[in-house]
Amino acid sequence: MTLLKIARMGHPVLVRRADDIPDPTAREIRNLVENMVETMIDAQGVGLAAPQVHVSKRVIIFSSPEGRSDADSPKTDFSPLTALINPVIEILSEEQDLGWEGCLSIPGLSGAVPRYRHIRYKGFAPDGKAIDREATGFHARVVQHECDHLDGILYTMRMPDLSMLAFTDELRRHNLSGDGESDGDDDGDDGDDDGDDSEFE
Ligand code: NI
Repeated sequence: MTLLKIARMGHPVLVRRADDIPDPTAREIRNLVENMVETMIDAQGVGLAAPQVHVSKRVIIFSSPEGRSDADSPKTDFSPLTALINPVIEILSEEQDLGWEGCLSIPGLSGAVPRYRHIRYKGFAPDGKAIDREATGFHARVVQHECDHLDGILYTMRMPDLSMLAFTDELRRHNLSGDGESDGDDDGDDGDDDGDDSEFE
């Protein structure tokens, strides 16, 4: 497996529509997914789209781990690590939530982005099996963020209020991050930059 270089905002691959994958079971796709997983884990992200590693194809990986939300959150809030090829999203409710997002292609920044609260998504796994799931909460958010990458859309392009775009370390310093887990600290800055769960993909 190989760590892949991550494209940053400004690279043309991030603003074009990625190509459909004719054969989800192709060996090159399996290799790509393996390298994307390694790259995402190394970068401490929770999602990654192929264009972010300079491959303009319709494949994303993501997870929505339990423990990010309350114990009584619905099961649809969570997902194991999943690779999804040629994904399609269906919106199940017009309701949207505003939540903080980060992006490995926009390092150091976070922004508040509206996303649909309840979606269904379909696509294929690298073994050719069909995937068809409902998603809510953070799970729905991360899938929408990653699928946007396949259409050349970055989270900043979804933001209605650019006053909510900020350096992540400043948000933490002032305790403004909407992410539950990053609240509750005192406002002292420990200068540490690890493990921000909102820093997905
Ligand atoms: Ni991203």
